[in-house]
Order: sequence, then structure tokens, then C-alpha cells
Amino acid sequence: MSEETTGLNSAEVKVGMGAPYMVTGDVRLIDANGDDLHLNEPVTALCRCGHSSNKPYCDGTHNKVGFVGMKEPDRQPDVVDEYVGDDITILDNRGVCAHSGGCTDNLPSVFHLREEPWIYPNEASPEQIIGIVEACPSGALGYRHAGVEYNPPSTAATIQVIPNGPHYVTGPLKLNDDQGTVPQYAGKYTLCRCGKSKNKPLCSGAHWDGFEDDGTWKGASS
Ligand code: SF4
Ligand code: FES
Repeated sequence: MSEETTGLNSAEVKVGMGAPYMVTGDVRLIDANGDDLHLNEPVTALCRCGHSSNKPYCDGTHNKVGFVGMKEPDRQPDVVDEYVGDDITILDNRGVCAHSGGCTDNLPSVFHLREEPWIYPNEASPEQIIGIVEACPSGALGYRHAGVEYNPPSTAATIQVIPNGPHYVTGPLKLNDDQGTVPQYAGKYTLCRCGKSKNKPLCSGAHWDGFEDDGTWKGASS
């Protein structure tokens, strides 16, 4: 069905060198409290350099700080590893992990912190593991179980601002990146907003190095 037929504009985030996220189409922007934030027509510029005084919106400061936004050569490679268990296979792409800690905090018997190998798929039930994979915000984790390979469920396109962290993207928000970045899952990925990710525009967990922003908007206009 065409966009003209449905009346909907597909949502997209355009990522260019030295520029903010340019968001267009039918997308929800919500703050850290789950409240809706306004979007501008026809495009909303969201900060990705980490320096705007009007977060989550861009205020042009990226020009003053000389933000470029390229990936770093020493980033984690974009490779999927398979951890084969008796009842479930866990898929893991370290290259897109946002280091939210959801897996190691909530199922430490399976997901070990700072060990290699770090995933032990026989140390919990498939149902417990599936719950953790589904909650992983970056799409780093997946699974194969009972003939089914994980794919995030279809939802409305949403960008959620995470306190002291990245944007969580869910739903059909197309990532149109000048560097050619392809998320592990088209409907679930995390976008850097501290400006320091090694894998821009995706989050690499670099916000843990002191990025502070509570994920709400305090301005009067964008
Ligand atoms: S983003 Fe996913 S894989 Fe990375 S720490 Fe969080 S839950 Fe684990
Ligand atoms: S990207 Fe424009 S101020 Fe941060």
C-alpha cells in the first residue's frame, strides 16, 4: 500500500556527518517519564553531539564544538556470535550493544560480566532467556528456539530519551545513515546522544563515561 493510500508518512532518521538526527514522518518522541514531546514540521533535529542546552533537541552547538560523528576504527566488530544450548541458541552482536546492563543484572547465571565466553545458554530456562532478549534495547541479543528466530514485534515508531543514556528506538523508524550503518534489527536499536560512541550513530555504551542528562525537556521552544 502506498503512503498516499494510507495517509501515513513512513518515519525516518537521517544521519549526516557533523549534523544532528533529522527525524521525519510518523514517530512518537517520548521523554524519560514516558511523556510525549513535540515534533516539528517537516523535520525535528535531535542532538547527537551531547552539547545542546536544549536536549533532546539540537540547538546548533554541534557547530561550535566541531562535532563530526564518525565511527571509531577500534569499535567492536559488527559480528553475530552464536551460543548453542540444549534448548535455545542465543545470538549476540557485541558491535551494537548499548551496555544497559539489563542482561547481566537480571540473569547473571546466563550473562556473565567481564568474562569470555560470557553467555551460558543452559543456565536458565528458555522462557527466562527469551524475556531478557526481548527486553534488550539495542538488538544486540537474539535467539533461536523451537524453530523460531527472534524478531522484534511490530509497534508504532517511537524514540524514547533515556536518562544519562541513548535514545531507544522501537518500531519502523528507518535509519538513513551516511556511514551506511544497518542496525541488527530494523525495529529495535539505540542511538548515541552523548556524542562519544565508538559506533555512531549507534550507542556503544560510552555515555557511562560521565554523560548527564535526565532525559526530560526543560525549554520553551526548540
Ligand atoms: S544492550 Fe542488550 S546485550 Fe547490551 S548490556 Fe543491555 S541487555 Fe545486555
Ligand atoms: S547535535 Fe546539534 S547541538 Fe548537539
